[in-house]
This record gives sequence, C-alpha cells and structure tokens, in this order.
Amino acid sequence: MTERDSEIPSAGPAASRRGVLGALGLMAACPFAGMARDAEAKIPAAARHVTDAPAFNRASPEDRVAFFGRHQAGMTTPRPANGMVASFAVAVATPDDLEDLFRRLTDRLAFLTAGGPVPRLDPKLPAADSGIVGPIVRPDALTATVAVGASLFDDRPWLAPLKPRRLRRMKRFANDALDAGLCHGDLTLQICANTQDTTIHALRDILKSLPDRLILRWKQEGNVPVVAPGPDGTTESARNFLGFRDGSANPDASDETSMDRLVWIGPERGEPDWALGGSYQVVRIIRNFVERWDRTPLGEQERIMGRARITGAPLDQRDATEFHAPDYARDPDGRLTPLDAHIRLANPRRPETAENIILRRPFNYSNGVTRSGQLDQGLLFICYQADLDNGFVAVQRRLDGEPLEEYVKPVGGGYFLALPGAHDASDYLGSRLVAAARSLAAGSL
Ligand code: HEM
Repeated sequence: MTERDSEIPSAGPAASRRGVLGALGLMAACPFAGMARDAEAKIPAAARHVTDAPAFNRASPEDRVAFFGRHQAGMTTPRPANGMVASFAVAVATPDDLEDLFRRLTDRLAFLTAGGPVPRLDPKLPAADSGIVGPIVRPDALTATVAVGASLFDDRPWLAPLKPRRLRRMKRFANDALDAGLCHGDLTLQICANTQDTTIHALRDILKSLPDRLILRWKQEGNVPVVAPGPDGTTESARNFLGFRDGSANPDASDETSMDRLVWIGPERGEPDWALGGSYQVVRIIRNFVERWDRTPLGEQERIMGRARITGAPLDQRDATEFHAPDYARDPDGRLTPLDAHIRLANPRRPETAENIILRRPFNYSNGVTRSGQLDQGLLFICYQADLDNGFVAVQRRLDGEPLEEYVKPVGGGYFLALPGAHDASDYLGSRLVAAARSLAAGSL
C-alpha cells in the first residue's frame, strides 16, 4: 500500500487521482468572461496532488480555478508554480464597513480568477489596471484565498464575540526568532498562479481597488520547482531548498471524506456557524541556513529528515518510493529512522496521533542576501486544518527541539481562519460573518 493510500485512517474508498482537477475546479478557460467559457471548459486528464511539482509545459494562461463554491479555492487545489501570502490591517468600524470590504474584495477576486478584458478609461484618468499582464487578464490558474486573523476580532468589540474558538495570535515556539514586521494581520490573501506576474498583478489590483479598506503590512512570495512528468504521466512531490521532496506524506486532497475530517471546519468542532466550511490557516516563514546544510554529510541530512534525499523513500525501505510509508513498529529503537527524525516526530503514526494530520501547501522562497553575506532562502510553510490545536500546534510541539532546528529559523507568519467559500455570484466571502455581526449589533441596541 502506498503512502497516499494509507495516510488517512478510515478515509473510505481511495479517490482516483484522475479527475481531481475537475473536482477541484481547475480547468482551461477562454480569456473572455461569459457563459460560453463554462461550456467550453476542458478538464486536464492527469490529476495532481496538492504538493506535486507543477508539470513542465502543462501550465496554460487559460487554466482557470473555479472561484465560487462551498470552500474557497487555494487550499486543496494543487499548487501552481507561484505563491504569495500578503497580510493586511483592515479599516472597518461597523458591520456595514465589513460588508463593503468583503463585497468589493469578492468582486475583484471573482474577476481576476476568471479573467477578461480590462476596461479602457479616459487617458486623463489613471488606467483601470496596472497593465502588467496586458489588456486582457488571463486566469493563469489564479487562486486568492481570504483568511482573517485574531486581531480583526480582538480590536473590535462588535466582532469580538464572533471570534473562532481556536483563533489566536501566534506565540513564539522555542526555535523562533519572530520579526514583528512579518507576523500576524487582520486579513491575509494567499495568492497563487502559474506565473509571478499574475500573483503580483492580483495584489496590485487589490491594493488599487481597496485603498480605503486594506493596508498592506507584509508579504512573502515563493515558488515551486516545475518538473517534467515521468513516462507514465505522473509527477513527484516538489523539492524544497534543502533538496528533499516535500509533501510525499501529505493527505490526499481529492478524498473529500478525509478533507471533511481533517481540513474543513464542520459542525462538530464547536466553532461559530459563520466559520463552517472554512479552515485554519497557518503561515510560517522559515529561513533555511542553506550554506550550513550544504556542508552537512548526506547521511546525516537523511537521518535528520527521515527520508532518502534522491528518491524520498523512507529510510527503512531504501528501495521504495516517496509514496511508501515508514514502518516504525518494526524499528522501535530508531536504528533505521532515528526517533528524532523530522518525519517521525511530525507524524509518529500512532493511533492517538491520527487526528494531528495537516494538509501542507508550502512554497520555497529566495529573498536575496543577508547582511552577513548568506543566502536568505527558506520555506513559506502554509498548512490547513480543521482544528488549529490538534493540527499545526500539536505537530510543532512534537518538532520543538528536533535536530533540523540547527538548520532552520522561523522568522514570521501567523494563525488565520480561511473563510468559507462564496456559493455563487449572488453571495460574497464573509457574508455569514457580516450577517452574524449585524444580528449581534441589533440585539445589543
Ligand atoms: C523549513 C522547514 C521544514 C522543512 C525543510 C521540512 C521538510 C520536510 C520533508 C522533506 C518532509 C518529508 C517528505 C514529506 O512527507 O513531505 C517533511 C514531512 C513532514 N513535515 Fe516538514 N519540513 C519543515 C517544516 C515543517 C513544519 C513547521 C511542520 C509542522 C509543524 C512540518 C510538518 C511535516 C509533516 C506533518 C510531515 C509528514 C510526516 C509524515 O507523515 O511522515 N514540517 N517535511
């Protein structure tokens, strides 16, 4: 049984990899908006997993990810080559302001993800668009996932009672050296697309469209290596800047039963009604000390990670593939996979840790050079889970003190709650939060 078949206990019948893109809404689109596009949409044959490397030569500017739906896109959607997290302070003082923010944001994101011609305005006015992607915006697999942070609620008494139960400001873990300028925020946008121009274009559009409501605080861009598919058409997990495949043991995002249990907030979680269908989003900007790592013996690197660097195979099955699961029961003393290896601590594969599975969706980042002449590279770690404490926090607590810490340093990020989806064009993101805030305000009058 492979890793991806076996990862989720009692996940029900394994969903086929084929058809995932269709289920997730990634389809080829015509550049002109309208009904015809849906009729003509093509669904690519080979489905991909969230952390598979984007396939070389397969991406098209016409790739379109459906914007409307029960859940927002960009969480279980396979990663395209580029990603970004941008964090904002919001200027809203009443439920009406919040509605105005969410409605206008939804309108822009619905347009940007579908694509279409940019209106031509009188040249005496600022142009309607930055122009960096030309006169026709192409969807380019763009997703923009909107999430809210604890400060949105904490700083506004009329919203405070509606704060999700587990949402709070991210606290420092033992190995963190958090830069206040790279942490937290009232609202984040996780923007992903085939090309960097499209992610930057989307961010600039939002900044231009909502200057009265959104103040940009920080952003971190990243990318995923594009890899040619193998002879059978399948792709592998992308490598991170430590040279290892990252995502091999991720849960299968095409398995809706698993996603309902692990990723989407359901009624059993005790969260406010407005948050159902959303997901806790964790962002960590984790610097990698790559010069030190590159001077470390390969065998030591593999024992630190718990997998073979070239193949991604577990250390107890050197001839296997990255999709095979380690068998810790047969290696109780850690002779093959050290007890403090990253993957063994992150997921000890015991019945009591089955609830701690998270959906990882990271990007590599490369920011330039530090003052001491080292590469400023690392992992823009992003993960999604239905329960923040049972998910990321439980996993990170087990990782605290791991040998990998000598080579990594978390410097930023935060905890957020990705909003439920907007059902269709008559709905908008955050509509249930706005309605709840209104009812609350009416009740307290
Ligand atoms: C720069 C920091 C990190 C690097 C370089 C890294 C790298 C890796 C690699 C190479 C793997 C093995 C392949 C795979 O299954 O994806 C892995 C697995 C994993 N990592 Fe990380 N990781 C980092 C940070 C984190 C953090 C912050 C968490 C969560 C708190 C985390 C959670 C996991 C989990 C849950 C697995 C799967 C373990 C399994 O099920 O066998 N990682 N990571």
